[in-house]
Amino acid sequence: MNELDLMTKIVSLCKRRGFVFQSSEIYGGLKSAYDYGPLGVELKRNIAAAWWRSMVYERDDIVGIDASIIMHPKVWETSGHVAGFSDPLVDCLNCKERFRGDKAPRVASGTEVTYVKGGKSGGEKLKGVVGPQGYVCPVCGSSDLSGERQFNGMFRTTLGPVDPLDDFFKEIRGKDLSERDMRGVYEDCLRRSLVYLRPETAQAMFVQFLNVQQSSSMKVPFGIAQHGKSFRNEIVVEHFIFRSCEFEQMEMEFFVEPGTHQHWLDYWTKERISWYRKYANHGEAFRLRQHDENELAHYSDDCYDVEYLYPWGWGELEGIASRTDYDLKRHGEATGVKLSYFDQNKPDPETGKMGWRYVPYVIEPAAGLTRSVLAFLLDAYTEERGVDANGQEKIRTVLKLHPALAPIKAAVLPLVKKDGQPEKAESIAKELRRAGLNVSCDEAQSIGKRYAKHDEIGTPYCITVDPQTLEDGSVTLRFRDTAEQKRLAIAECVQTVIEGARHPL
Ligand code: GAP
Repeated sequence: MNELDLMTKIVSLCKRRGFVFQSSEIYGGLKSAYDYGPLGVELKRNIAAAWWRSMVYERDDIVGIDASIIMHPKVWETSGHVAGFSDPLVDCLNCKERFRGDKAPRVASGTEVTYVKGGKSGGEKLKGVVGPQGYVCPVCGSSDLSGERQFNGMFRTTLGPVDPLDDFFKEIRGKDLSERDMRGVYEDCLRRSLVYLRPETAQAMFVQFLNVQQSSSMKVPFGIAQHGKSFRNEIVVEHFIFRSCEFEQMEMEFFVEPGTHQHWLDYWTKERISWYRKYANHGEAFRLRQHDENELAHYSDDCYDVEYLYPWGWGELEGIASRTDYDLKRHGEATGVKLSYFDQNKPDPETGKMGWRYVPYVIEPAAGLTRSVLAFLLDAYTEERGVDANGQEKIRTVLKLHPALAPIKAAVLPLVKKDGQPEKAESIAKELRRAGLNVSCDEAQSIGKRYAKHDEIGTPYCITVDPQTLEDGSVTLRFRDTAEQKRLAIAECVQTVIEGARHPL
């Protein structure tokens, strides 16, 4: 299969079967936001639950929080997001594309380039010379570009009943101000009620460090985990849900003793790559890549990405950063609150006396939840060629999702809609639901079509109820990945499904 075709097939399957829809589709849609349908919401919740399970339930050194999306605006000044979270934005004066200068194709300044007028095929050929910025338009290759404007990636909104525009008009009424001065007045008015939608979930874990540590009596090393929505006004949204403006993250801040951070960075990189591989069919499509020095964020002294081999090439899925003591120190300095930890059993390295107060270092595995939905869908998508009963070639589409991630764990299928079969199917479904599984009782269409539908949406087990079931209490259990069928007693079948849907250890 052509690798880019795969993406088209995934997008189509997502809409057809109810995984992911374009936001506000009937109004023409928003390119930068997506809605998760009945199956997508299950897949997303299952991935988040698997992550929470491995981060919080399976260990006693990490606790969770669920913080607000809107935080005090000073948080983002202190974290560096107000000043640093900005991209150089450039307009192509030839084809009108708006793009990030730092991501544009590099071409040495002074190089002569040829491009098509307006970027339209068949148009007049033009010649240009690459300017001092050293790049060309990523779409039409033109060197005819605007200058760079800094564009902050955080969404701004206002809190409270006062509209900053009212204040603005009051302030400028009767004054003859330049455009620059008016902008200054507007920014002042806005600042009185300005808040941001968080661009990462991480900052709440730093800001609530003391509350969590003290209320839960956590001892370093310990972590705080959270997953939830984040918002970035991305200039380029791309590859379906890979990069959108509203998305979800799963982040954990692990607070460690200074000097032990390299050990914990190694530990978490190994943990995180093995977490993905446990749920994947193609472990080799997930890899770790260490950042070059020039890629490191301002707060980080080392960082690895978990990358996935998307149809367009390797790309980021999660960043695991050694954030030093940057965030706790900065928030401590900005608020005057000591965000430190006292270890009474360790000598202070400077004085040699028992008892050491220090600002913990932080290792941060920061994963994309919505991006993981895409990676696991791509990993699971399979087409198997075969022949049908009439000797015609047919393709079986199977979504080989790990059973713990699959939206529906089992479909109970009565062969016919009569003779007590639907009632029997319902009673088996009830037993599985009692065990906490999301199960579907499906009566519509032929049994073959029902199997095909459940293969395509990743249901790992189909349980077929037929006349024999009513006689001897046995059912047919069909396994999605192999299409193998087994005749089993109902109790054994239920047990097999419950066991199969468990998370891997
Ligand atoms: N607290 C650190 C942090 O936010 P990041 O690398 O900017 O680090 C972490 O984000 C993860 O969040 C990324 O690896 C990616 O999976 C996901 N992510 C970031 N921006 C995204 C976007 N615009 N759309 C979807 N996922 C995104």
